[in-house]
Formats: sequence, structure tokens, C-alpha cells
Amino acid sequence: MITGTGRAVPAYAMPNADFAAIGIDTSDEWIRERTGIRQRYIARDGETCVSLAADASRQAMARAGVAPEDIDLIVFGTCSPDKLLPASGVELQAQIGAVNASAFDLNAACTSFVYGVSVAEGFIAAESARTVLVIGAEKLSGIINWKDRNTCVLFGDGAGAAIMQRAQGGKGVVSRFMRSDGHLASLLYRPKGGSAEPVTPEILAEGSHLVAMAGRETFKHAVRSMNEALDRALADAGLTGDDIDLLIPHQANLRIIEATAKHGHMPMDKVFVNVDRYGNTSAGSVPIALDEAMQSGRIQPGMKVMLVAFGAGFTWASAIHQF
Ligand code: UT7
Repeated sequence: MITGTGRAVPAYAMPNADFAAIGIDTSDEWIRERTGIRQRYIARDGETCVSLAADASRQAMARAGVAPEDIDLIVFGTCSPDKLLPASGVELQAQIGAVNASAFDLNAACTSFVYGVSVAEGFIAAESARTVLVIGAEKLSGIINWKDRNTCVLFGDGAGAAIMQRAQGGKGVVSRFMRSDGHLASLLYRPKGGSAEPVTPEILAEGSHLVAMAGRETFKHAVRSMNEALDRALADAGLTGDDIDLLIPHQANLRIIEATAKHGHMPMDKVFVNVDRYGNTSAGSVPIALDEAMQSGRIQPGMKVMLVAFGAGFTWASAIHQF
């Protein structure tokens, strides 16, 4: 079960109006109408994926009453790690002093945190770990193409973290679902710059090492996969949308969130939305929203909360948590 959460974003909030200053042919109206986004946070001055994750982790540990040395496992969800080697999980381990932990990165893109919750739950159930730190953190500003208006207006930087421990008194994850489909990989990916095609001056010039997305196709699959993830976790738990007190969906686009809520017959007042303030923070999205919901009192003991996400890969997943 989740016993503490935290979140961190960079200091600089970039409003839609600021894209004009960097030569992007877009407008506040277009971005708000098509996505619901008003601003996003962008890292500067030494803020990194790992430093944001460390800030979020310290909050989660304090709220769970857990010391760094109590952590057995760190599952670090990200697709924009500080370095490609070593894993950001071990860099985080060093920064927070989790000296007794093992750590690895998990890349399911925007679905990473929800995958991470299932992975943590599995380790705890198998008694291979007692206290797990699950992170979703990104510095997407370092991997997006700042000349591509199809993508650069959508994404933001930020991190969320959760401490997970053994379930008690019927609390904890009551159902979960994970899927992926690699046939859809080229709809949202970084075409080059990996070990198959290492970076060359030509790749750098054309920007093919940066995120590229087929927006409309991604949108279609996003709605379909979020719906499936929602249905499968509900069915597995023997619940309906009525039983869920709060839905925390991946914050990519307000229209996708609304379509998911409608599919689940959930009124929007039972759906957590913060895409307007953060944009799409990929792996950071669900845990940032989860922490905002916890700290603002939207999550109370006894509530059933559903996490649902989709992302590049494609990947999609859900989890229902009894608080
Ligand atoms: O975490 C997973 C990540 N990805 C997603 O969830 C993204 C899913 N897709 C979407 O959210 C939407 O498809 C977008 C927000 C990316 C785009 O919205 P859309 O309603 O699907 O627009 P579109 O791509 O069909 O483009 C419509 C028009 C095009 O112009 P033409 O060809 O109709 O003349 C685009 O060139 O909007 C144009 N456009 C823009 N105009 C102003 C695309 N980006 C922009 C922009 N500003 N930033």
C-alpha cells in the first residue's frame, strides 16, 4: 500500500504565451482548446530528472515516516534519465542515502509509474522487499524538439514519488492491469541516437534523436487503451465506475481525460485534473497528481482511487488502490 507521497517541479513555469518568444508558430488559444494546457514547468539552473526525483522522494519518505536506510528497492520510472548509463535509480540512491537499497530504472514512458506500482507490489507480496520507493520523474525539456510545434507545447518537467509497504487492514492495491504493444512504437519515439544508430552530426542537425509523435494516431490509441485499462482493473476487482471515489488519469490532454471519464461513467468531479498547470510530464504525471490529491485532502481514508495511464511503446496500465 502507498504510505507516503511527494512531488517536485522546477521553479520556472512557462506560460503558453512564451512560445512566441522562441519562434514557435502557435497560440495560447490553440494550446488551451486542443489540450487544456495553460503552462508547464521547465528545468533550469542544474535542475535535473534525478534532483527533482530526490526532492519528491524526501517528501514521500517524511510523510511515510521512513528513513533512507529503510528502503529496500528503488523503482525509478523515466524516459528522460540524467544519463543513459548508469541508471537514474542508482544516482537517486546516492543522493538520498538509501544505502541498503537496490535500484533500477523502468521505462514504460508515461505509464512508468503505474507499472512501477505493480512491480513494487509484486516484490512486497513475494517478501523480497518491505519498503519500496516508486518514482515517476522526467526532464522532458532535454529530449523534446523545441522547433516542433506538434510536440514542444505539450510536455513539461516534474517528478512524483511514493513509498509502498505491506498492505494492512484491507488497504492497498486491490487490482492492477498492464499491457503493451510494440507494433505502435513508431507513433511516439526517438527515432535515432540510441545504440542502433549512434548520434552523428547529421542526426543532431535533423533532430531525429529527439521525440517525434504522430499526434492524431496517438490520441486514438490513447483513448482506446485508457478505456481498456479502466475496464480491466474494474472487472478484476468486481467494481464499477460508481465504486471509484477518485480517478487519477495520465495528464496528457484534457480531451483524452474526459473521454476516459465518460467511458467509465464517472462525472468529472470524481476525476483529478492538473494538465492545465503541468502539461504532460510523462512518468511524472500520475504521481504528481496523486500527491496533489493527497495533500489537498481529495483522498481520504476509506476511498478507492484508480490510477490509469498510457504512453509510448505503446504501454498502458491501471491500478485500483484502497486507502
Ligand atoms: O503521453 C502520451 C503523449 N501524447 C499524447 O497524448 C498526444 C495525443 N495527441 C494529442 O493530444 C493531439 O493529437 C494533439 C494535441 C497533439 C494535436 O491535436 P489535434 O486536434 O489532433 O491536431 P492535429 O495534430 O490534427 O493538427 C491540427 C492542426 C494542423 O494543421 P492543419 O494541418 O490542419 O493545417 C497542425 O499543423 O493544428 C496544427 N498544429 C498546431 N497549430 C498551432 C499542430 N500543433 C500546433 C500548435 N499550434 N502547437
